[in-house]
Amino acid sequence: MEDYAQMEKEYVMRPWMCQADVRVNIIDRAEGIYFWDKAGKKYTDFSSQLMSSSCGHNVKEINDGIIEQLNKYAYVTSGLGSEARAKLGKMIADITGPNYKRTFFSSSGTEANEAAVKAAKWYTGKYKLISRYQSFHGATGIAMMLTGDPRRYPNEPGYPGVLHGPDCYCYRCPFKLEYPKCDILCARYIGDMIRYESKESVAAIITESIVGSNGIIPPVKEYFPMLREICDKYNVVLIADEVMTGFGRTGKWFAFEHYNYNPDIITSAKNISATYVPLAGTTYSKKISDYFEDHWFVEGHTFAGHPLGCAAGVATINYMKKNKLVENAAKMEKVMEKRLNEIKACHKSVGDVRGKGLFWGIELIKNTITKEQMGTREDRFIRGHVSIPAKVAGECMRNGVFFLQMISTLLFAPPLSINEKQINEALDVVDIALEISDKEVVA
Ligand SMILES: Cc1ncc(COP(=O)(O)O)c(C=O)c1O
Repeated sequence: MEDYAQMEKEYVMRPWMCQADVRVNIIDRAEGIYFWDKAGKKYTDFSSQLMSSSCGHNVKEINDGIIEQLNKYAYVTSGLGSEARAKLGKMIADITGPNYKRTFFSSSGTEANEAAVKAAKWYTGKYKLISRYQSFHGATGIAMMLTGDPRRYPNEPGYPGVLHGPDCYCYRCPFKLEYPKCDILCARYIGDMIRYESKESVAAIITESIVGSNGIIPPVKEYFPMLREICDKYNVVLIADEVMTGFGRTGKWFAFEHYNYNPDIITSAKNISATYVPLAGTTYSKKISDYFEDHWFVEGHTFAGHPLGCAAGVATINYMKKNKLVENAAKMEKVMEKRLNEIKACHKSVGDVRGKGLFWGIELIKNTITKEQMGTREDRFIRGHVSIPAKVAGECMRNGVFFLQMISTLLFAPPLSINEKQINEALDVVDIALEISDKEVVA
């Protein structure tokens, strides 16, 4: 019998890793919130793979939507029309409402963000871009430079004019202030950045509506309305990166809807097609869409608006609506919040619990007085080093619960169809594994 694990280890380049550290577990099948490996071991998918398999696995309606398209044709160029593409554009316009109009379809969140910032530059005639340090916006060109986390470092130097601002991260306020006495300095500081950099040169600010892989960090309620005001004042385009949070993850179709403001551009990927087929979208406000009526939209890829991806998007949205998955994510928020706070009360290594809908993180700390993190940004570059958060996640995996961790935070984002019993079963496993990190607490 072929040894596929060995074959993959030898011939496939695994992202974000030294290849010698790669361990391969071949996955055999997946159904709903579960998947099974070749040895028949069952796992709960407690992060929807990459926060992306939002509808769960092997959903017949989504499979059928893709197969139906495949049986008509797999591909036509974006220079020819496609029913699935047209339908999906209109469905997204209906979800986002009258402030938004056209969507550019591509294949990854990275491309969606590149298409957002490029359009912002053409629209404003300016070139500087502001993002924040606790962020990931993608792995190519400008998107990689917009990224604030350590994945950017080996790719530098990058794109001129990309600047990073402070985060709205109350647990580790960059200004050591306390909310609400801080008067939301993190937002006001972005206004200062635009003034000092010159309002004539700053084209756009890009933010994750709730920071994702860098620790699931929801902003305070005043933050985005303040950024909106600043952007309006200086004619700066405000881009909401909803690649992780979009399409129901936080209990609304888009996470920005929690914060009482409208971005100018919304980027999506992952959950837009529940990752059944690669698909991403950059949705432009009506004003920006209209601008491109008589200005070139200088963007495109062979895979742009791929009919199979668009068919998956249509089937995903229909399935989500029919099964009320956005509503379920909102309902399960209370279950996650309650149980995670109970876990926090029992484990001294749990410093903070944060989230919305079915998008939650627990930040692990070594020291309850100084809040020193259990994993650091630098850990990421020590070859062969397994951080404590990685050890906790590894123990959960051995006990049948799969989720991601990053730097010092365990990231929980199960499929939006999960129920209360399934959440508690998975968190029982996490609860026990946290004994590993508790042992590392020094004060
Ligand atoms: C917030 C955010 N933006 C952009 C991206 C890049 O998306 P992709 O990996 O599809 O290129 C990611 C990926 O995880 C993300 O989390």
